[in-house]
Amino acid sequence: MKILVTGGLGFIGSHTVVELQHQGFEVVVIDNLSNSSEDVLDGISAITGKEPIFENLDLRDKKKLNGFFEKYPDIRGVIHFAASKAVGESVEEPLLYYENNLGVLTYLLQELKQKGNGNFIFSSSCTVYGQADSMPITEAAPVKPAESPYGNTKQVGEEIIRDTCNVNPELKAIALRYFNPIGAHPSAKIGELPLGVPQNLVPYITQTAIGIREKLAVFGDDYPTPDGTCIRDYIHVVDVAKAHVIALQRLLEGNNATNYEVFNLGTGTGSSVLEVIKSFEKVSGKKLNYNIAPRREGDVIQAYADTKKANTVLGWKAESSLDEAMKSAWEWEQKVRS
Ligand code: WQD
Repeated sequence: MKILVTGGLGFIGSHTVVELQHQGFEVVVIDNLSNSSEDVLDGISAITGKEPIFENLDLRDKKKLNGFFEKYPDIRGVIHFAASKAVGESVEEPLLYYENNLGVLTYLLQELKQKGNGNFIFSSSCTVYGQADSMPITEAAPVKPAESPYGNTKQVGEEIIRDTCNVNPELKAIALRYFNPIGAHPSAKIGELPLGVPQNLVPYITQTAIGIREKLAVFGDDYPTPDGTCIRDYIHVVDVAKAHVIALQRLLEGNNATNYEVFNLGTGTGSSVLEVIKSFEKVSGKKLNYNIAPRREGDVIQAYADTKKANTVLGWKAESSLDEAMKSAWEWEQKVRS
């Protein structure tokens, strides 16, 4: 059974391709290599022994996208990762984000509508909650006005899918709201490859430890949290990948309750920045060079998931601990730099 994975050479995409292949799916990857490298295909096949079909295509090209679906009429499901995801860049370049994250989404949905069937998994984010009023955050928590165009594209993206599925019963979709995916495949053959200076905490930690960055700036230790630093729900990327396969199978088997469902993907445990640093130092045996810097604009104080819905309805639960995730991130960093 052929499954399309857009952005399948990216961080979460590549780990999901591996899990799909483990489950016997035939995978077709579309990626325009704007934030990934074709070498990731070798990493995937080194793990699974199978290389996915790869189409180097920009999804913003409607004609090419239509040609793709004509070439592969037997695509049975789509997992859509391809999107721009740098919060700061989205503030500078909103139109790029609205075209790439929302224009492309409408083209994909139009193709599925034309095909007359669609099992669609959407890469959403806990960013839709903004600073939630209470912890842990359930899927019923209100969506708050987005703090960035990036966050807005996740909110509006969910609405586009919901509204489309409401009037096209042949289309079924699940939006997965990631908390903070971190780490790498335990084989260290695929992992996170941030281009340029990492925006996210964990790659910045590992690049500091390996000597690429001089030191980590901790953005604020004066928050109303136990140790003063922000709290997040850091989840192993392989756990996130496995959830995508389970969600896809739910749609393929027609087990969905409604034709648009939303699930949080988190561990249910919040960890502060200092706790993540401590975890890294424990698993790596290295002392991390960091200092306390001013707060970063737009950071929420804390965000961690209520995972009951995904655990009970989806039948999925995160299995890896923060230490295991940090260990895999460190092993990947050392491998990439070796
Ligand atoms: C985590 C914590 C920072 C870097 C973002 C997106 C979200 C999702 C995940 C795509 C915060 C602190 C960070 C650093 C630091 N992306 N930090 N020094 O902001 O929770 O979420 O990435 O889906 O949508 O918003 O992740 O890793 O950037 O930050 O102190 O050099 O680490 O202040 O408290 P974030 P992050």
